[in-house]
Amino acid sequence: MAGLAIPAGLIQRSGMKPQRQVRLDYRRFGRFNGQHVTEMPQFKIASQRIVELHELLMAGKDDMLKDKDVVMTGWKMDSPFIADTELEKIQKAAQKLAAEIEDFVSIGIGGSYLGIQATIDAVKGSLDLTNLLDRIGRGGTPRIFFLGHNMDPAYTARVLEIMKGRRAGGVVISKSGGTVEPAIAFAIFKNGMDASFSEKEVQERIIAVTDKAKGALKELAIAQGYSTYVVPDNVGGRYSVTCPVGLFALAISGVNIKEFIAGARAAENMVRSQPFDKNIAMLRAAMRFMAHRYMGKVTELASTGVYDLRSVSMWMQQLGPESEGKQGEGLLIVPQYYTREAHADGQLVQQGPRNLIETFLMVEQPETDVIIPGQGTPVEYLDGKGLHFANTAFVEGLRDAHYEGGVPTMSFLLSELNAFTIGMLYQFEMNAIALSGLLLDQNPFIQPGVQQYKNVANARSGKPGTEAALAQMQAAEGKLNPDFIV
Ligand code: PA5
Repeated sequence: MAGLAIPAGLIQRSGMKPQRQVRLDYRRFGRFNGQHVTEMPQFKIASQRIVELHELLMAGKDDMLKDKDVVMTGWKMDSPFIADTELEKIQKAAQKLAAEIEDFVSIGIGGSYLGIQATIDAVKGSLDLTNLLDRIGRGGTPRIFFLGHNMDPAYTARVLEIMKGRRAGGVVISKSGGTVEPAIAFAIFKNGMDASFSEKEVQERIIAVTDKAKGALKELAIAQGYSTYVVPDNVGGRYSVTCPVGLFALAISGVNIKEFIAGARAAENMVRSQPFDKNIAMLRAAMRFMAHRYMGKVTELASTGVYDLRSVSMWMQQLGPESEGKQGEGLLIVPQYYTREAHADGQLVQQGPRNLIETFLMVEQPETDVIIPGQGTPVEYLDGKGLHFANTAFVEGLRDAHYEGGVPTMSFLLSELNAFTIGMLYQFEMNAIALSGLLLDQNPFIQPGVQQYKNVANARSGKPGTEAALAQMQAAEGKLNPDFIV
């Protein structure tokens, strides 16, 4: 029996010249049929403050920009301006490794993980599906997997089983070099690599991305003879996708890193040169601040109807709350994938507590469309139309309904989904989050709360030197009422 056929003309590719623009639509950021955020008296003050804060970022001299002694603005001052020759070196090394292997594993967590997955999913197609294609279908690149962003044995075992018997390579990323989740994943991966390949092959196929001089990973990389890339001192994890942390893995997956950085650079130049009322990052920062401080909003939905942008909304979730969620302040960011979630928490978004704002990620021109053969079906009225048309109509419908229901919304409009527009989006967003964090009087480049969790988890898992903390925790646990387990 023949397999499934795809009728001619059903799937259409745009073939248009790549469009390279990101815009912000904030017409609906305010009350439905009422006051727009820009009409609130505090908005003018916030806008003036943002311009000053941007100057502060550029000058790089304030303690609010520092993690320990380092001013953490490398993502703004350096990463978008990396020399082409550097990019070519990374590209060449990545292409060489990509040609030698069948599967590539990127090991890391938080900022050392999410930007990479988000970019690959957005630019090359979501990996859960593209990994199922053959090598030609994937554009000649290895399959890509992620480890170290969880400690789930079933997940880890499955990834290893999927790769069993194949030529593997990978990158392990940790700025501190001591984060336990990726350290465990790397121990497991290294063990498999050492058991399967010669010492030289392992050295050629494992790359470590970490601090230039210190940390357990740096020491291990030196001892084992792995190639390394440096996480710059002045770039924090969640701001690192546009520096070598992200670039090597992106190049392995076939993302055009020159285009990606060109997009980030274009956005950075716009942030620096455009006046407030045309400045995407500044406007977005001011609106988020207004929503949180003066409109009673506590959660921002990062919403999209584009499957390949789901992990970009997760990247936003990582960047925002870890940057500004301090001292009782900050917006929680929650990814929403439409229209799936419209049939779930969509009810609450429409009619639940009015403490939400919503930011949409929209793509104006899709690279691929599927034509709806609607004749003789309940959707006959859509016959011959593209799925993109229907999807946009529904997501815009959700946007309008939520706005009418009391959710201020704004939308990033990406002319097309490609390396350039994703680079732009990230640079706008990193600026917007840094600025809105500073507006809330928070240092957006530290994460003391994450360290707190790491300390507790380390003690619970028996890390040497944490015995006293563990004893304290056990004593506290001993005081809990055992009757409350039923
Ligand atoms: O943004 C951050 O700083 C964090 O999300 C880190 O990236 C994450 O905790 C991983 O840290 P490291 O790269 O030191 O392993």
